[in-house]
Amino acid sequence: MREPTTGALFQPTDPAFLADPYPTYARLRDEAPIAWFEGWSAWIVTRHRDVDALLRDRRLGRVIDPADASHAPPPDPAHAPFAAIQAGSLLEIEPPDHTRIKQAVHDVFTPRHVRALRERIDAIVRERIDALEARTERRADLIRDVAEPLPVTVIADLLGVPVEGRAELVPWSKAIIGMFEPERTPAMEAAAVRAAAEFAAAVRALIERSRAAPGDDLISRMTALHDADPARLSEGEIVANAILFLNAGHEAVVNVIGNGMLALLRHPEQHAALVADPDGVPRAVEEMLRFDTPLQFFERRVLEDMTYGGLVWPRGTKLCLYYASANRDPEVFDHPERFDVARYPNPHVSFGLGVHYCIGAPLARLELQSALSALLRLPNLRLDGAQPGYQPRNVFRYLTSLPVTY
Ligand code: HEM
Repeated sequence: MREPTTGALFQPTDPAFLADPYPTYARLRDEAPIAWFEGWSAWIVTRHRDVDALLRDRRLGRVIDPADASHAPPPDPAHAPFAAIQAGSLLEIEPPDHTRIKQAVHDVFTPRHVRALRERIDAIVRERIDALEARTERRADLIRDVAEPLPVTVIADLLGVPVEGRAELVPWSKAIIGMFEPERTPAMEAAAVRAAAEFAAAVRALIERSRAAPGDDLISRMTALHDADPARLSEGEIVANAILFLNAGHEAVVNVIGNGMLALLRHPEQHAALVADPDGVPRAVEEMLRFDTPLQFFERRVLEDMTYGGLVWPRGTKLCLYYASANRDPEVFDHPERFDVARYPNPHVSFGLGVHYCIGAPLARLELQSALSALLRLPNLRLDGAQPGYQPRNVFRYLTSLPVTY
């Protein structure tokens, strides 16, 4: 059998693709739903049913044993600080270590902790919208003025990062996520390594501080867990997962508010309907998560030789599972190209599925619903001027500013 390839369909550095990848995903789903892309030495998977099945398939994982050098080039010593923050991160390990660390994290980050954050989240959002209402010139940048401050404050509070240590969180995170881009440059790699080293040093200082004066924050609770029983969670694992939480805990929330508000304001009749009936907010948030997916794809590796859909995949094979394309699959969603705040059901895969399903999904939903409800207090909210541009990235789809009037 001739192997299906993406051929000329998939050109991930093409500016037109990066500006609007969805027409390309539609053609891939129709013509080559599981196709080999030589440029990344990976299979590109674009249909909902395949993404769903492969995310649940335990023969796949985020990484194969890092000690198994036959499937990966030897690590670049210059990347050691980055490798160190990956080593114990939930996102980069598989059971049984994943199960052990997830259990430890669950013990310190429970649904009770998330519920307790609701009032704090509403208060932060209220404060931001009050500040906008108090302005004489009714112009704002939704990313800088609302989308970024909310999740950064929430996750920094949760982890126990003091106010004076927060300015670096966004630039560190932006630098670190560059390493997940398949088209990254050496400059992006160097920035990611530098950010990893600085971030890890800052978290280590917080661990020490929590030993001297423990608080009720996640870093203090993880440190107490480690000090009571180091076999449950090592200090390196605390650092790696604190960084994962601090990054994952704000990055995608900012990006859903940005991408989602852009979609909503491009559909003024739906915006008006929500202003009139704010009970529609939870469904509208799910549609924002689906329509312009902030994390377009994640990679998986084949952990043991397998076949799937007639294809033979030896151990080590790389797959790119396109959540953003699954979320636009007409086999699952009626008129998937239509932004519809009332869409129901909405089985999007924006939080992933299976072993690595997003731990922060309940918190993210709380934040997004609170932010959208508060933004409806500005009924005259409109896009201001030129079309905002997306960053030219393959994995992380986001805006760096969203100018509005209100
Ligand atoms: C709208 C916001 C968010 C989106 C779209 C999102 C999306 C995702 C996705 C797709 C994954 C799975 C990656 C994979 O399949 O390989 C994931 C994992 C994860 N997310 Fe989120 N996330 C969001 C918010 C958050 C928040 C607020 C937190 C922290 C409180 C968080 C913490 C994590 C962690 C720790 C993992 C790793 C879980 C594991 O590997 O077991 N995320 N997220």
